[in-house]
Amino acid sequence: MATQAIWSDVEAYFEQALIVPDAHLDAALARATAAGLPPHQVSASQGKFLAFLVQIQGARRVLELGTLAAYSTIWLARALPDDGRVVTVEYDPHHAEIAHQNLTDAGVLAKVELRVGAALDVLPQIAADNPVPFDFIFIDADKRNNVAYVEWALKLGRVGTVIVVDNVVRNGAILATDGADESTRGVQALVEFLADEKRLDGVALQVVGSKGYDGFILLRIGD
Ligand code: SAH
Ligand code: DHB
Ligand code: MG
Repeated sequence: MATQAIWSDVEAYFEQALIVPDAHLDAALARATAAGLPPHQVSASQGKFLAFLVQIQGARRVLELGTLAAYSTIWLARALPDDGRVVTVEYDPHHAEIAHQNLTDAGVLAKVELRVGAALDVLPQIAADNPVPFDFIFIDADKRNNVAYVEWALKLGRVGTVIVVDNVVRNGAILATDGADESTRGVQALVEFLADEKRLDGVALQVVGSKGYDGFILLRIGD
């Protein structure tokens, strides 16, 4: 069997066994597809992994860059206590409109603040409005700005804040030495930045599954 087919079957096997089907998440995906949004959301297993990290961290304040249809946002919001909050940023107004509908129907809108705009334009206002640091930050927007996003995460976090950066492997494109696309160069620039940034301790996790071959970088802010 081809490698991708094995990955997909194994992921389906574990999802069936370990992830309770959820009508709100299914409906969120269906609405995103019907609206023509790209299928760039995390997989169910990845969404649950992010939710676990939020809970293990005891996070109450989460920041997400790149909402799309709010599939990951729903996972993050549900992992929070009742008084927890996710601030999520989406550049595309159409994506944000679908996200707003999905957050409403999933019953988590009270825990989510959806900001529409380019993250680098919106982050100064988020900083001004949020004097209490974020405990968990998920970076999943335009990859070319990854270094700037992690620099913002350093400002908006605290010692112990966990930062997760999505899509760092890109089917192995991360190894390209020349001719890398802009997104890949954004991830490579982040990896080089991290090598010199002593406040951040990091680890990359390669992930295979129904969404192909990709990965996360997990970071923890130290002092
Ligand atoms: N986190 C989502 C997937 C995000 S896909 C999930 O897992 O469900 C990446 C999203 O980032 C897209 O919706 C895209 O429109 C948005 N985006 C692209 N550039 C951006 C920017 N500069 N600021 C904020 N969002 C951006
Ligand atoms: C793609 C996947 C993602 O998870 C993302 O955030 C952006 C793009 C992609 O498959 O192209
Ligand atoms: Mg992603």
